Amino acid sequence: MKIVKVNNKEELSEKATELFVHALNRLEKPVIGLATGSTPEGMYDKLTEKYQAGDITFKNAITFNLDEYASLAADNPNSYRYYMDEKLFNHVDIQKENTHLPNGLAGDLQQECTTYDERIIEAGSLDFLVLGIGLNGHIGFNEPGTAFDSRTHVVELTESTREVNSRFFDSLDEVPTEALTMGLGTIMEAKEIMLLVQGVKKAEILKKVVHGEVAEEVPASILQRHPNTTIITDIEL
Ligand code: GLP
Repeated sequence: MKIVKVNNKEELSEKATELFVHALNRLEKPVIGLATGSTPEGMYDKLTEKYQAGDITFKNAITFNLDEYASLAADNPNSYRYYMDEKLFNHVDIQKENTHLPNGLAGDLQQECTTYDERIIEAGSLDFLVLGIGLNGHIGFNEPGTAFDSRTHVVELTESTREVNSRFFDSLDEVPTEALTMGLGTIMEAKEIMLLVQGVKKAEILKKVVHGEVAEEVPASILQRHPNTTIITDIEL
């Protein structure tokens, strides 16, 4: 794993944008995996600015988001579809039909996950994947204990993740109990991964991810085995 140390959130967003743009420009039809959460927000703003300045285009890009809550409609401000539309898709020239998120309202959620995984494979797997990390080491919504060879699947969210994410909802009760997420096996097939980790509260988990054992209890530790992962962080390791 390559570590890029930055000094603050602004620098993290700048560096992340640089790597993203490099991936976007390098390929004719880039297949890009995307994350939500507060960490990549600055990067999405900068990508929007770059598009508006005429420096980049998304017209040939295909995107697959990592995860989505079960039971939230696309027009629910807490759904990840809504987040992506608001933060990026509505402001750039990406073709809406080329943007993919698991459908949290599908009648058969497991079938939806299987189809989602197949679509990623059909697209040639991810060329570049943006990841954030949860306080318990989750990537996407792969909670501690998830099998390293898992494919896109339905998860029951841990109480700690629901509590952390409840800051975006009116109350804890409104946070869905389930989500759909790319599996760790799916994530590991990405050709290049960029993990963004910002803020001292993530220092403890990041140290485990980088220096600890590769163990299912720390899902992101699997990235030690990935041949092309860059961690951009303002944490001293
Ligand atoms: C959520 C998402 C993850 C994200 C994580 C960290 O649970 N499912 O994909 O990486 O939160 O979010 P934040 O960047 O807000 O700390």
